[in-house]
Amino acid sequence: MAVIAWTEAMSVDDAALDKDHQKLIRMINDLDQAAPDFMELFNAVLDYTTGHFEREETHLDAIGFPGLDAHRVQHDDFADQVADMLRQYRDSPFDAGDTRLKDFLWTWLKGHILIEDQRYAAWARAKGG
Ligand SMILES: [Fe+2]
Repeated sequence: MAVIAWTEAMSVDDAALDKDHQKLIRMINDLDQAAPDFMELFNAVLDYTTGHFEREETHLDAIGFPGLDAHRVQHDDFADQVADMLRQYRDSPFDAGDTRLKDFLWTWLKGHILIEDQRYAAWARAKGG
């Protein structure tokens, strides 16, 4: 799978949250589907993601972003979808060549940062300028 890079288009104009996103992208890129400790690595990504969502929601609350509730739903939805995939994985582990988990993480995160997170970034820019 291609290595994905953080780009300026992903910036939410908040240094701490941009750093979180960069770290998440690095962690997903480093996820090796064939590694014997893949599930451990995968869980580390999920832990970091959960912490990031909390930091982001705290930030959105602090700046008074009106779309916070809807944004929170997106985060919760991610957690539900991952839990679902992990259940499937536990029932019958995917083959080493089956990149479903990693593909899901990447597709979701990329869409989320580029579309959903840009909504609060645009709102904050408009409010600030
Ligand atoms: Fe978000």
